[in-house]
Amino acid sequence: MKFFVDTADVDAIRELNDLNLVDGVTTNPSLIAKSGRDILEVTKEICDMVDGPVSAEVVATEYEAMIEEGRKLAEIAPNIAIKVPLTLDGLRACKTFTSEGQMVNVTLCFSANQALLAAKAGATFISPFVGRLDDINIDGLELIADIRQIYDNYGYETQILAASIRSANHMSDCAKIGADVATAPPAVIKAMANHVLTDKGLAAFLSDAKTAGIKIV
Ligand code: E4P
Repeated sequence: MKFFVDTADVDAIRELNDLNLVDGVTTNPSLIAKSGRDILEVTKEICDMVDGPVSAEVVATEYEAMIEEGRKLAEIAPNIAIKVPLTLDGLRACKTFTSEGQMVNVTLCFSANQALLAAKAGATFISPFVGRLDDINIDGLELIADIRQIYDNYGYETQILAASIRSANHMSDCAKIGADVATAPPAVIKAMANHVLTDKGLAAFLSDAKTAGIKIV
């Protein structure tokens, strides 16, 4: 499973990138707003840092305006994935962009039917939001499993990009289901390394090494 980091914080991306844990980046208008930076400037900095796809989202809602914004975003770098919302206009824009060879991430997916439409529109990525479904007592992981089944039934190449990931458990659950990608905040990705028995075991090993005077270099 590929790891995308869900942030527009360049320092956080750099830290994870140095750990080789970044296969791509996703942003959205809320994350760009949180960064306090100009969308074109911060997205360019991210694209220069990361080799994989960097999703940048349009803010227009009508087809023609989405096309204009998407083309402007695509000019930033070759690794831009234009992010469009899962609306009828967004699906039409998706088809236009992918026909031109551009990567597209269709976002705000909350149902299997929406994911089916995105695949038919040739989306590179579909972003089902796990956490936001969980928030309203609908099993977000079940949606990932349903989409996996549907895409496998027909051999759709659209990659399932599990989004709105809120915990390290979500990451392993998505991997078990077979999501192609999961995008998560930096803290969630780092939390995947944590285990209380690792901490306890390491403390004991270091204590024994000190007692025995073990020196390696
Ligand atoms: C996906 O691309 C979105 O940017 C993101 O995963 C949304 O997550 P949230 O529900 O935690 O805001």
